[in-house]
Amino acid sequence: MKKLCFLVYLLLPMLVFAQQRTPEQDSLIAQTQRKTKADHADMLQQLGIKELRPGRSGNPNGTNPANYDESKANPFPNLPELLTLNNGKKVSTKKQWEYHRRPEIVKIFDEEIYGITPENLPKVNWVLQSTKNEKMGKYDVNVLTYKGQVDNHLYPSISVNIDLTITLPTRIKKPVPVVMEFAFVFPPGFNPPPSNEIPWKEQVIAKGWGAAVIIPASFQADNGAGLTEGIIGLVNKGKRRSPSDWGTLKAWAWGASKALDLMETIPQINAEKVAIMGHSRFGKAAAVTMAYDTRFATGYIASSGEGGLKLHRRDFGEIVENIAGSGLYHWMSGSFLKYAGPKGWNDLPIDAHSLISLIAPRPFFIGVGNNGDNWTDPKGMFMAAVGAEPVYQLMGKTGIGATEFPAVEQMIDWGQIGFRLHPKGHVTGPNWPSFIEFMAKKLKLD
Ligand code: GCU
Repeated sequence: MKKLCFLVYLLLPMLVFAQQRTPEQDSLIAQTQRKTKADHADMLQQLGIKELRPGRSGNPNGTNPANYDESKANPFPNLPELLTLNNGKKVSTKKQWEYHRRPEIVKIFDEEIYGITPENLPKVNWVLQSTKNEKMGKYDVNVLTYKGQVDNHLYPSISVNIDLTITLPTRIKKPVPVVMEFAFVFPPGFNPPPSNEIPWKEQVIAKGWGAAVIIPASFQADNGAGLTEGIIGLVNKGKRRSPSDWGTLKAWAWGASKALDLMETIPQINAEKVAIMGHSRFGKAAAVTMAYDTRFATGYIASSGEGGLKLHRRDFGEIVENIAGSGLYHWMSGSFLKYAGPKGWNDLPIDAHSLISLIAPRPFFIGVGNNGDNWTDPKGMFMAAVGAEPVYQLMGKTGIGATEFPAVEQMIDWGQIGFRLHPKGHVTGPNWPSFIEFMAKKLKLD
């Protein structure tokens, strides 16, 4: 029943959208799917791969259903070493970490997992579209709407813009911290299920901080067909990706970094106290953003699952093969696909604990749900945090500082990594107050 609810929740936007679609929209969707399949097939051909292993089904009665039996979840319990250099030497100082081991891990993520972000990316010209004084709850706010116009003079047939809105509390007279969310855009007519929670932006504004919303799909589409468009397509001049080229998660992270560049120029913002937040696919993007851009002070990484903070070596919920399939492969580099055949999960030279090690020693919060969020493997994300502990320790900090998986609603917040399992499934709402408390405590904002 719980799994069914989860499935319905995931499919709901599509179902609602399906009812309202015009024949033109239907044909556009079919065209996108065809283009996506062709791009996926082309990547496999570039890699010399004939076939990938199939992903698991979220439906317990479907073929090849996902595993939810913890006793079978750890086929490869040994994680790659974090504090050993590729040449076998041990890392025992912060300097060795910073100058030698960390760059090695970044290189592996670039080449094998998320792809290489091109050098000399085009400039972004941020244009303020409007500024409005409004009320948010009982607070006066100033809403700044921006468009980040990406310089496309080298390939004018692709134009790319980043949509960003920044809401600032007008009552605060010093530079404010900001929480920036990667936001979903739901199809017209789709209203998320009603909730009695205070919207996150209002909670953040009540705290005296700013709330920013960046729209990832405005500059890189969430499908394989879009890889020859958006910022990835612009830089490739409309050509398809090579296996080590960046995937969509890296492109979304780039957009967040560009937004932070802008925030650094806004006097009302304290750009040293900016958090990145994302849920599910955008939780993956938020984790990648924090790992690669060390200017982000903290983050709320919600239900990021496979491809995010879940250990790839875990057999629980979604697995590597799901992400390698034509529906989701665009998030990653082409080179990642080989771990869904011929290679296996244990051939991965890194795992999600390595991604967390790139965030260290900064504080961040892992949020996830019980009752319907098992697809994301809450325990696999917790275990990744535990696996990154030695790196936090090397830097004189406590990471998650725990080895026992916590009970529902038990907050872990005594080290740099916060963790909380809320009881309401694949949503972020119930953990927002905990994250806000965490951020205030870790960045000493109260
Ligand atoms: C799918 C996908 C997940 C992803 C999720 C989402 O369920 O398998 O990896 O996190 O969509 O973004 O909602």
